[in-house]
Amino acid sequence: MKITVVGAGAVGATCADNIARRELAEEVVLLDIKEGLSEGKGLDMLQASTLLDCDVKITGSSNNYELTANSDVVVITSGIPRKPGMTREDLIGTNANIVKGVTQNILKHSPDAIFVIISNPMDTMTYLALKSSGLPKNRIIGLGGILDSARFKTYLSLALKCSPNDLQGTVIGGHGDTTMIPLTRLATYSGVPVSQFLDAETLQKVAADTMVGGATLTKLIGTSAWYAPGAAGAALVESIVRNQKRVIPCSVYLEGEYGQSDICLGVPVVIGRSGWETIVDFELNADEQAAFSKSADAVRNMNDVLKTLDL
Ligand code: 2OP
Repeated sequence: MKITVVGAGAVGATCADNIARRELAEEVVLLDIKEGLSEGKGLDMLQASTLLDCDVKITGSSNNYELTANSDVVVITSGIPRKPGMTREDLIGTNANIVKGVTQNILKHSPDAIFVIISNPMDTMTYLALKSSGLPKNRIIGLGGILDSARFKTYLSLALKCSPNDLQGTVIGGHGDTTMIPLTRLATYSGVPVSQFLDAETLQKVAADTMVGGATLTKLIGTSAWYAPGAAGAALVESIVRNQKRVIPCSVYLEGEYGQSDICLGVPVVIGRSGWETIVDFELNADEQAAFSKSADAVRNMNDVLKTLDL
């Protein structure tokens, strides 16, 4: 198995490091446009692997796409991260061209790759990668919901003073501070609805904290987070390369599911070796469906910005 991570910034490097430590591939290529950055970080990871008992070939590439040839999975993290006070959507003007160019360069050398898109605004970047590549929809997967769900479970675990591993919690909709939908009604603690342990006010605060989970970290550290995004990328990649058929909330192309079409938006999907396989229908109540439609409208507005950028 060969996996390429494009973008050796904090998120990309952390994702590549997680992939290597979990030995999800025989070869990991880390590519960045900045001369030397990916070679340096790749060599550093290789040196760490001698201490971590993992054995993966790690190659850094300064914008040489030939080194990415025949990748099975490609994770795109390239572009700029947000700064405090910015929304993910503010990044579209810079990141859209980068993501389109990276997608096309990767495809020249890895025509059969499955793409995982992390660059923001992620739902729109996923839609752009799909439309500009012309690939089958199941091979383009946007990473957002798995990260937001990790934050959802973290805030639930803090409220419940329990292990996050005893929680099931899913976030659907757009990967945006106001567009994501933590499904508090469906969240469970050891199989029991969390509403049996937390009152409505606490659950509302957990949902609100989840929605701005990324912005909260950006305010604290001055840039986008990387540990959870990088780990989320590796977990998604693991379900692909090990054909685990995990149900993971991802941004995928909808054709009527959840009442939406011609959009990439976060829904629960089965993830396996061919990419995303089937969309799982979580029966939404009226409020959840209304929130999902509102989320779709916001993401569709961002997709429309691509036309003004001639993309
Ligand atoms: C986040 O929420 C980078 O969008 C990513 O941290």
